[in-house]
Amino acid sequence: MKKITQVSIIGAGLMGHGIAQTCAQANCNVTLYDIKDKILKEALKRIKSNLELLANENIIDHQDIDKIILRIKMMNDLKKCVKEADLVIEAVPEDLKLKRKIFREVEKYVSEDTILATTTSVIRISDISEAIEKPERMIGTHWMNPPFILPLVEIVRGTHTSDNTVKRIKEFLEDKCKKKTIVCRDIPGFLVNRMAAAVLAEATKLIETGITTIEDIDKTWTEHLGLIYLLFGPFRNLDYIGLDIVYLASIYLSKTLKDERFKPPKWLADKIRMNQLGIKTGKGIYNYQGKTFEEMYNERIKKIIKTLHILNKL
Ligand SMILES: NC(=O)c1ccc[n+]([C@@H]2O[C@H](COP(=O)([O-])OP(=O)(O)OC[C@H]3O[C@@H](n4cnc5c(N)ncnc54)[C@H](O)[C@@H]3O)[C@@H](O)[C@H]2O)c1
Repeated sequence: MKKITQVSIIGAGLMGHGIAQTCAQANCNVTLYDIKDKILKEALKRIKSNLELLANENIIDHQDIDKIILRIKMMNDLKKCVKEADLVIEAVPEDLKLKRKIFREVEKYVSEDTILATTTSVIRISDISEAIEKPERMIGTHWMNPPFILPLVEIVRGTHTSDNTVKRIKEFLEDKCKKKTIVCRDIPGFLVNRMAAAVLAEATKLIETGITTIEDIDKTWTEHLGLIYLLFGPFRNLDYIGLDIVYLASIYLSKTLKDERFKPPKWLADKIRMNQLGIKTGKGIYNYQGKTFEEMYNERIKKIIKTLHILNKL
C-alpha cells in the first residue's frame, strides 16, 4: 500500500491553510493552491502565526517552525500543484458545481493511485464523484476547524469509494497526522453536522416561539450539556441518569409534544425489560461489571471536578 507523503491542498482559506499546516507538521511535503496570490500570501502569514501560537503553548518547538514552513510550497498553477500528489485535498467553498469542476480537472493531472479527498461539511461524496472517471479514489475528509488542533476527522465513504482508499486515508490521518477518525456513510451532513443541525433546529424553534434566548441556549451548552457530553457523550451519560428514568421521560415528551422523534426506541424498552438500567444495575448501554455503583458515581464526580478546575469554573 503506497504511503502518503506528498499532499496537495486546493483552496487556501480557513480550512485549506490549516490542513496544509497540519500535513506539514506531520512531515509531509505540501503544495497549496488558490486562485488568488493575495490569499496564498495571507495563508502563509496565518500559518506562521498559528505555529508561533502552538510553540508559545508548548505544543511544538520554536526551532521546528521554519522546518514546517519549508515543507509548504505555495502554487498558483493547479497542474503543477497536484501532479506529484499522493493525496489531493480540496477545500474550496461549499458549492457542488465548483467542487465537481475542480476534481474533473485535477483527475487529468494526477497519477492512477492518487487519492482525491474533499473537505465538504455536508455534500454527499457520491454527488461530487459523479464528475470523475474513477470515483473509487474519492473520499470525504471532514476536518474540524481549526484542523491543526482539533482531534477528529470524519472520514466519509462514498458509494463508490474503494476499501483501499478508506484504508490509506485512515492510516494517513491516524498514524501520520495523529487524528482520531470515524468512518461515516455517505449521508448529507455526515455525523457531526447532522447532530449539530438537529441541535440548532430545536434551539431555533425554542427561540422563535419566544421560549428562550440565544444567550440562554449558549449557556445550557457552555455550562452543562457541552461539559457532560465532552466527558461522557450523549449515550454513556444516559447510563448515569438511569435508563428507566430516560425511558419515562421520553414517553412523556413524545406524548405531550406529539413528536415521534422523542419516542423511546425499541432498544431502550428492551434494556428496561432486562433490568439493564445503567450504572445502578452494573449494565446499561455500556457494561460496568466489576465496578460498584459508588465507584462509578465517584469516578463521574471526580471527572467533572477535574474538568471544572481546568475550565476555571470552580
Ligand atoms: N469553515 C469551517 O469551519 C469548515 C469546517 C469544516 C469543513 N469546512 C468545509 O471546507 C471547505 C472550505 O471552507 P472554508 O471555510 O475554508 O472556505 P474559505 O472561503 O475560507 O476558503 C475557500 C478558498 O477557496 C478558494 N477558491 C475558490 N475557488 C477556487 C478555485 N476554483 N480553485 C482554488 N481555490 C478556490 C478561495 O479563494 C478561498 O481562499 C468547504 O467545503 C466547507 O464546507 C469548513
